[in-house]
Amino acid sequence: MGKDVIIALDFDSKEKVFTFLDKFAGEARKPFVKIGMELYYAEGPQIVREIKARGHKIFLDLKLHDIPNTVKKSMAVLSGLDVDMTNLHASGTKAMMQAALEGLTRKDGTRPLLIAVTQLTSTSQERMEEDLLIRESMDKVVMHYAKCAEESGLDGVVCSPLEAGKVHETCGKQFLTVTPGVRFADGEIGDQVRVMTPAEAKKIGSDYIVVGRPITQAENPVAAYKRCVDEFCD
Ligand code: C5P
Repeated sequence: MGKDVIIALDFDSKEKVFTFLDKFAGEARKPFVKIGMELYYAEGPQIVREIKARGHKIFLDLKLHDIPNTVKKSMAVLSGLDVDMTNLHASGTKAMMQAALEGLTRKDGTRPLLIAVTQLTSTSQERMEEDLLIRESMDKVVMHYAKCAEESGLDGVVCSPLEAGKVHETCGKQFLTVTPGVRFADGEIGDQVRVMTPAEAKKIGSDYIVVGRPITQAENPVAAYKRCVDEFCD
């Protein structure tokens, strides 16, 4: 599987998304894009169909977490939207992850890639211990959740680029690492704390980088996207 750059479409309306995507209209390479909760809840499933119709691959980032039967049926709906990648919380248990895979698999045997969120990067060691009563180290918890996802048949995890190497050591090279927190060496960091350049993320073994503001807020988004592709892709 080739490495790819996924642009996070963190916009709150359809108009803003299409104004942005129009800039890529004449380009040979249609960017892989991520649709998150904000845009999906604002515009509904139609936004997925419209972006798909423009020829983009889609990572639908809705992070499902519910009882196995509900997740299975919801995943079947998302699979019908013809997305290319979607995700869930590994903390929903292996039973939930296996049910999700079943729901996602279409009649012809094909399915979108399914990626697990381990511990959110917004959760600190202290909050995990105090609020969630999980007393192990963050690193051990993240690797354990990744292993559970791999054993459930999932394709990979969302993680920090700093964790990508260790996830591959734990779960195998073919297990995908999808990594946000990417910044250009000469760019602004914003609210991200632990960041890497696209070139560093490539070196450490990330399979997909998720890039938002360094592209969406750039003066020339097409040039910023191409710079990411040049640094990261083979
Ligand atoms: O603008 P920026 O490049 O920081 O956007 C990164 C994208 O990746 C956002 O959509 C953000 O919600 C998402 N993300 C993240 N860190 C995680 C998981 C997802 O930044 N741990």
